[in-house]
Amino acid sequence: MKKVTTATLCKMKQDGDKITVLTAYDTSFAKLFDEQGIDVLLIGDSLGMVLQGHDDTLPVSVDDICYHTTAVRRGVNRALVIADMPFMSYATVEQTYNNAAKLMAAGAQMVKLEGGSWLLEAISGLTERGIPVCGHLGLTPQSVHVLGGFKVQGREQKQADSLVEQAIALQNAGAQMLVLECIPRALGQRVTEAVNIPVIGIGAGPETDGQVLVMHDMLGISANYMPKFSKNYLQHTGDIRDAVKHYIKEVREGSFPGPEHSFE
Ligand code: KIV
Repeated sequence: MKKVTTATLCKMKQDGDKITVLTAYDTSFAKLFDEQGIDVLLIGDSLGMVLQGHDDTLPVSVDDICYHTTAVRRGVNRALVIADMPFMSYATVEQTYNNAAKLMAAGAQMVKLEGGSWLLEAISGLTERGIPVCGHLGLTPQSVHVLGGFKVQGREQKQADSLVEQAIALQNAGAQMLVLECIPRALGQRVTEAVNIPVIGIGAGPETDGQVLVMHDMLGISANYMPKFSKNYLQHTGDIRDAVKHYIKEVREGSFPGPEHSFE
């Protein structure tokens, strides 16, 4: 079994092969997802909501992400492991280096940061020092209070143009992957075509290079609210392994997300 690397993901984009991503927070689920052939596992700060029961991701600490990253990495043979940098853990370049180093030591193979142009120095510095970076644009949940809620982003032309420019700037600074969250489908396609790095969507339409879901949403077991862009794969399969297989199959063949999971 060949391990997934950043080079694998770039080749998948070039070949038009869709990339499958799920969040994971522990060894057992990581192993199960890995065995079904998931390409990337993300230790998302969504764990603040789905594991810890908070209303948002802001209370999550670097130690929390390290703890879950170590557990996930122990379950993985093939998938690439990405760890989220939590809220305010990359407020300065020095903090970014220190905290990214902790996540890599815990088992991450790439770190993900939310935001645009203000991150360029940190992204090029991390990349030069051997830490691969995934950007995250659109709805950036760590900025929920600035954004005024969990809302679709990039509906205005000016905002959409700025998002495309920021995606290109992140790529030019060294980012090797990009997550786009909750944006109109056409903008998801525009960004995907504007950059050479793999673009993973969550509520960004079917044209992105791959899809990511929070595992609790994919299994329909999230405690509170089920986002429009998600799909409960356990409902019709009744088995966790089959649910994951089905998710992977639908992303690969391009039938997920459908129009009902996308924003126009
Ligand atoms: O925290 C997370 O799980 C994420 C995904 C929703 C992309 O950032």
